[in-house]
Amino acid sequence: MEIRDLLTKHRQEKLLRHYDALPDGAKARLAAQLEKVDWSLLSLIGGENHTNLRGELAPLGATELAEIETQRVRYTEAGLAAIRAGKVAAVLLAGGQGTRLGWDKPKGTYNIGITRPLYIFECLIRNLQEVTEAAGCPIPLYIMTSDKNNADTVAFFEEHDYFGYGSENVRFFVQEMAPAVSYEGDLYLEAPDRLALSPNGNGGWFSSLEKSGCLAEMRTKGVEWLNAFAVDNVCQRICSPDFVGATILSGSDCGAKVVSKAFPTEKLGVLCLEDGKPSIVEYYEMTEDMVTLRDDCGELLYRFGVILNYLFKIESLTDIANRRLPVHMAEKKIPHIDGDGNFVKPTEPNGYKFESLILDMIHMMDSCLAYEVVREKEFAPVKNATGVDSVESARALLERNGVTL
Ligand code: UTP
Repeated sequence: MEIRDLLTKHRQEKLLRHYDALPDGAKARLAAQLEKVDWSLLSLIGGENHTNLRGELAPLGATELAEIETQRVRYTEAGLAAIRAGKVAAVLLAGGQGTRLGWDKPKGTYNIGITRPLYIFECLIRNLQEVTEAAGCPIPLYIMTSDKNNADTVAFFEEHDYFGYGSENVRFFVQEMAPAVSYEGDLYLEAPDRLALSPNGNGGWFSSLEKSGCLAEMRTKGVEWLNAFAVDNVCQRICSPDFVGATILSGSDCGAKVVSKAFPTEKLGVLCLEDGKPSIVEYYEMTEDMVTLRDDCGELLYRFGVILNYLFKIESLTDIANRRLPVHMAEKKIPHIDGDGNFVKPTEPNGYKFESLILDMIHMMDSCLAYEVVREKEFAPVKNATGVDSVESARALLERNGVTL
């Protein structure tokens, strides 16, 4: 379709003002971006937000630490067997912008060391190496980046020789981007020939994996399970054999590592049942009862928070691949050019970004094993520079776990 017709159809005529004035090459660049826009996102603005509608919620129990201790050997053996058979791959979700940390490079390139360099990516590779050493074989690692950080991420791994993991064991794939819009639904431009785009959320990982050709490669290799995890948890245990084994033995479609909430109002998404299926409810969606109710033993009924470490059966992901994930709209400060072409860096939110979230995939699965881990050993997210979930708190936990900083 002609760009003029496309923009008119989607009520984006304002963009024509910039478009008409562009040289041909720049027109082609903008046209290529516009052709990839998912216009259905715009219909969400001002409409009913279906992501807020919840079914009937009920608590979901977990395989708890005490039980895991009695089964650890069995779980670990089953997990190691699957890893050695090449059935398990790791997927690092590193396409986010990490704005809260205030580090303008990819978050994984942040140096969390004090007396020596220790990069976030390096921490994750070291943790994965513990498992590959125990298994005596490599685990393929797929790293999701975005258009904004792919070049820097790849260059960083090259520069550091993949921290000894072996470039042949690592693949990068790039996630898709979504447009940013004003409250009125007008697409923002970040330059006259460039839309303001941002990564479309960590929920796009499986479709991006498929589009990149990586999924086909995995299938050829015989991979059956994917451990997807966040870039920012430096204590993250990846492809832990016990977790892998427990999930496979449980016969579930997926497993989710969970921690016991430290206090009722802790800002963690909680794994529960929604209309009889596994689901994650964000902390801000929980009712007062859900936050405070306790069982007969005095434990919180909705006790188990997720830490963005999931093991999915590829077959179950393929079954839901054609279903659309809910789209979340987040109010953000979106840098853009105004009608006169001046660059504006807003100090207040001025519109929406659209994201889909991996946690919504859990509700599409028929079953999910909640698997409890010790938070002091496995949960040190680096979201902020200081305070809660920060560089400071992650450093403290790394040291407690014997890592020299
Ligand atoms: P966060 O929700 O913490 O988002 O991501 P973020 O963009 O990294 O950080 P802020 O909110 O701007 O400070 C959780 C995980 O999901 C990945 C992140 O890289 C992180 O591992 N992610 C997030 C993606 O891979 N793609 C996205 O579009 C968003």
